[in-house]
Amino acid sequence: MIGRSNGAPVSITGLGTYAPERVLTNDELAELVDTSDEWIIERTGIKERRIAAPEQAMTDLALPAARTALERAGVEPEEIDLIIVATVTPDMMFPTTGSLLADLLPAPEAAAYDLLAGCTGFVYALAQAHAMVSAGLSKKALVVGGDVLSKILDWTDRSTLVLFGDGAGAVVLERVDEGGFEGFELGADGGGGEHLWLPGSGSRTFEDADRLVKMNGREVFKFATRVLVSSAQALLDEVGRTIDDVDVYVPHQANTRIIDYATKKLGIAEDRVIVNVDRYGNTSSGSIPLALGEAEADGRLRKGSLVLMTGMGAGLTWGSTLIAWTANGRTT
Ligand code: ACO
Repeated sequence: MIGRSNGAPVSITGLGTYAPERVLTNDELAELVDTSDEWIIERTGIKERRIAAPEQAMTDLALPAARTALERAGVEPEEIDLIIVATVTPDMMFPTTGSLLADLLPAPEAAAYDLLAGCTGFVYALAQAHAMVSAGLSKKALVVGGDVLSKILDWTDRSTLVLFGDGAGAVVLERVDEGGFEGFELGADGGGGEHLWLPGSGSRTFEDADRLVKMNGREVFKFATRVLVSSAQALLDEVGRTIDDVDVYVPHQANTRIIDYATKKLGIAEDRVIVNVDRYGNTSSGSIPLALGEAEADGRLRKGSLVLMTGMGAGLTWGSTLIAWTANGRTT
């Protein structure tokens, strides 16, 4: 799916993030599996990640991020009429994290649900909320992206354990006078789904399914480097922009080698690229909003900045969006 935004302009008016306090270092992982700080940094760029406490679930990460986003947008929870939570680690299949979050905020007027699109979930959710707000069905939407992947990792599998962390971000979407989302490009390839999967997590029966993440890292690496470039280029063409117009590039934070490849291939200056995978690992649907939060906090996201975001992940899925930034840029 590809298209430029041609309805009422819609933008992000508030942003909030949350990551659990517990920092887990590479050296600590090396005590659990046969790996090393050196190997992890060289192959992934990751130095540490945040890990949720045993009692924390997705709703516990989503709630503080959502409250901050609402406060920054100057919107009361009761005004929210749509909540979409992009996650592959909901508290449980039902009730959804969206419903639970609506109750906790509270946002009693909101339609609320979860969206499953792997690490691309946040970009897919932005597209859905954008369409509903632009069409007038929703007036103020809350989009949350986040995951507690530590709960579905195989803590004996070094090939996946070292890559992931926990975290979440939330944004408020509203109509604006100018700026906002310029377009979206979204895609899916179920044929490649077997390269990153969670067998036994749904209605299909598998023998000996342990409901833990399985990944073919080399295939995912090839897929990721390909779609980060192709999706961004297709979207830039669609909306009549070039890479030189992009002030801030926020790629999915999976691995610095993947980000470096895409940065070079797209031809974007390194100082325009947001990278925080070194401190958070791959937080799946939390990755893009956490990186946006960091860019806003350090002053790189200014009013009018053209921001390119591209996500990719399980499905396999991918998605890009371009937004002329409008949020107020407060950092506390
Ligand atoms: N520590 C030490 N050695 C390891 C580890 C580890 N944690 N993991 C694998 N190895 C070993 C392998 O066993 C292999 O050993 P061998 O040569 O004796 O067989 C060797 O290191 C090389 O393994 P490769 O898989 O070829 O290493 P590669 O350079 O491809 O790096 C990695 C592996 C980091 C997983 C890389 O393929 C990658 O980043 N892939 C993309 C993964 C990803 O981003 N997934 C998520 C994206 S989608 C989403 O976000 C949900």
